[in-house]
Amino acid sequence: MSQTKLEQLRARKAQTRLGGGAERIEAQHKKGKLTARERIGLLLDKNSFHETDAFVVHRTTDFGLDKQKYPCDSVVTGWGTIDGRLVYVFSQDFTVLGGSLGEVHAEKVCKIMDMALKNGAPLIGLNDSGGARIQEGVVSLGGYANIFLRNTLASGVIPQISAILGPCAGGAVYSPALTDFVFMVGGISYMFVTGPDVVKAVTREDVSFETLGGAEVHAEKSGVCHVSAESEEDAFFLIRKLLSYLPQNNMEDPPYTPTNDDPLRASEILDEIIPDDPSKPYDVKEVIHAIVDNGQFFEIHEAYAQNIVVGFARLGGHSIGIVANQPAVLAGVLDIHASEKAARFVRFCDAFNIPLVTLVDVPGFMPGTDQEHNGIIRSGAKLLYAYCEATVPKLTVILRKAYGGAYIVMSSKHIRGDVNLAWPSAEIAVMGPEGAVSIVMRKEVEQASDPAQRKAELVAEYREKFANPYVAAERGYLDDVIEPRETRARLFNALEMLSNKRDSNPPRKHGNIPL
Ligand code: HXC
Repeated sequence: MSQTKLEQLRARKAQTRLGGGAERIEAQHKKGKLTARERIGLLLDKNSFHETDAFVVHRTTDFGLDKQKYPCDSVVTGWGTIDGRLVYVFSQDFTVLGGSLGEVHAEKVCKIMDMALKNGAPLIGLNDSGGARIQEGVVSLGGYANIFLRNTLASGVIPQISAILGPCAGGAVYSPALTDFVFMVGGISYMFVTGPDVVKAVTREDVSFETLGGAEVHAEKSGVCHVSAESEEDAFFLIRKLLSYLPQNNMEDPPYTPTNDDPLRASEILDEIIPDDPSKPYDVKEVIHAIVDNGQFFEIHEAYAQNIVVGFARLGGHSIGIVANQPAVLAGVLDIHASEKAARFVRFCDAFNIPLVTLVDVPGFMPGTDQEHNGIIRSGAKLLYAYCEATVPKLTVILRKAYGGAYIVMSSKHIRGDVNLAWPSAEIAVMGPEGAVSIVMRKEVEQASDPAQRKAELVAEYREKFANPYVAAERGYLDDVIEPRETRARLFNALEMLSNKRDSNPPRKHGNIPL
């Protein structure tokens, strides 16, 4: 090979790494953002990145674009490893035409999406783009459509993760929205279907980028953001951590991570955690931390619908998905947002062979016109549907309240719970003692010489009779009533026992979850 040819190759390759040039890279840094390549460098294992399509250039000539050609175009694509495991990645380059998505940008992304699907490895998208490349018109829209289709076909087959590291506006938001987890970074990420200018024109509302679609808003209010990070580096650290709990694809089991935390360890603090007064709250995250390996819990949707807690952890080295009612927020009631949050998490775990551990302390569904009119019936049905259809190992521990429909929904025996346990503090009934007495013993209370005292007696009687785990245990709805300190060991034993579980649903094109 002549030296000139090698030099030519090296020069061309060097040019592909320049993006939009030094000035635009500086502008990117000034905005507090990293470049597309710096991001990949921080996300993947050192020197593991293999780039695809670095020589690709756009073919557009309209609007002077023939004079603005950048080898690689506005997205860097390829594969590499995270903790030695294969992943595919695309990273939009804002320094090239604002990271805008035209024909070849979409083709590059689609190529690695196809590879990720064919080879069964996670796809990670780093988004930083002004949206559809305006100069390319409908071709850009077609490019987005090709990506959306692949996101949908890959759903439930490979984990898909999106990090929003700049603007993500208009229809472009729907690719991240179709993926499993959306990460955002405070101060630099924003997502919206229509920007502040359009909002102002249509509704006359004055709103900033941050208030309309920043990380905080999507993490707390809309639930679009699953994990909110403090910086880009933090986002990459968290993505790497999340992947450590997940299998590469739906045909694999999640990775086993050896632990020095004895799986049979007793947690005495759990014996003391439930307050004597059943109306008093406690923090269910303390229960989670006491049960799981080394107290490590990777929470999803931490700031959204905090009345339910979901996330990943390990038990004796095995990945589990945890769903827990949170008595410390709204008494752990199931409302629209909590039901949807948990339903999506349950479906993710089921799709990727991650056993579910459900910790129950729920007073029921949230009452009120707001909830009814906005569809608590439909949303509650989503969670019910998700648990009913799930065939992964399902372990349930009733800590305290399990009332009414919420008892059934939260992975009860009746909807294929594999191992259902309860603490002695469990109260399993159609409703709480106060409510029950007010309805079925109203006349007796009204006719009593001292109605308040009679009511208190009846409530105590009801509590004694029904608000315990033994009626359900006598029926076999619970497999056992256990001491709280034994919870970790009992769950670990159950998980091992279920390691060869086989279960399936009737053949069908797909179910019709109440969306
Ligand atoms: C082509 C674009 C572009 C776009 C930005 N640029 N967006 N080029 N198509 N969509 C270019 C700019 O012209 C500029 O080029 C460079 O990228 C950097 O942009 P700036 O505006 O200087 O950056 P900044 O001030 O940080 O503002 C970022 C921005 C803004 C807020 C994203 O650029 C913007 O509003 N862009 C348009 C967003 C938009 O409306 N997109 C279409 C959305 S609809 P120079 O050469 O000057 O540096 C959509 C539909 C998708 O995406 C549908 C899918 C179904």
